[in-house]
Amino acid sequence: MIPTESLSKIEKAYDSPPIWYDIRGFFVLTFAYRSTLWAQISLFGNNIGARHLEGAVGSGTLFGIILAWKKITGHPIHAEIVGFDYAPSMLAGAIRRFKGMPGIRLIQADVAALDLPHDYFDTANIANAIHCFPDVVAGLTEVCRVLKPGGRLAVNVLLYPRGVQPFKWISERINAWAIRKGILYTPYDQADIRSRIVNAGFDIESEKVAGNTLNVIAVKRSA
Ligand SMILES: C[S@@+](CC[C@H](N)C(=O)[O-])C[C@H]1O[C@@H](n2cnc3c(N)ncnc32)[C@H](O)[C@@H]1O
Repeated sequence: MIPTESLSKIEKAYDSPPIWYDIRGFFVLTFAYRSTLWAQISLFGNNIGARHLEGAVGSGTLFGIILAWKKITGHPIHAEIVGFDYAPSMLAGAIRRFKGMPGIRLIQADVAALDLPHDYFDTANIANAIHCFPDVVAGLTEVCRVLKPGGRLAVNVLLYPRGVQPFKWISERINAWAIRKGILYTPYDQADIRSRIVNAGFDIESEKVAGNTLNVIAVKRSA
């Protein structure tokens, strides 16, 4: 379990109105992750199985865009979806956004303590959030527990800033601000986060670095 002190910090860090989160999120995505919305739609939109877990769903902006994109491109999602988030104000935004949409259940939960059955989900996505978890292995181990053996996790990880100046410097400044604000726990080295994902019970199927982001598809090892 993640210490109560860390959880109350998360709750406080995300207590702004969801619209502010969306505006801020665009800048963080562009200048700290050095990623694009399209990269995210492509990574996460291709990992939604019949029973899907949307981890740290936030206010649901990205997941809503992905569902809409699947629909307009002729691949509407008909899945049983559970979304969770720890921060009440973020979750409230997602509840409003997905109200009335069949098949989506939203719960408040810490990633390290999910009140969900073992071996249940075909897929799980954790978008823009793994580097916010105070105990990343505890969180990933719990997500692994609720996935079926062979179930797939898609996750993007914020890496320590790379590349040329002044972009590296800008990313470093944004990360330092985000850590102070409590919306970032830490960026990672690729080898370090890779070994933590493996230690939590996954095999890495693919990994790709783009900008300051590591995009990973991992598969739950069979017992
Ligand atoms: C940067 S937001 C990403 C939200 C969404 N996935 C997206 O891409 O727009 C990170 C989210 O992780 C959530 N979070 C942080 N630590 C958490 C934890 N221990 N358990 C569950 N959610 C957590 C925060 O509340 C926040 O909504």
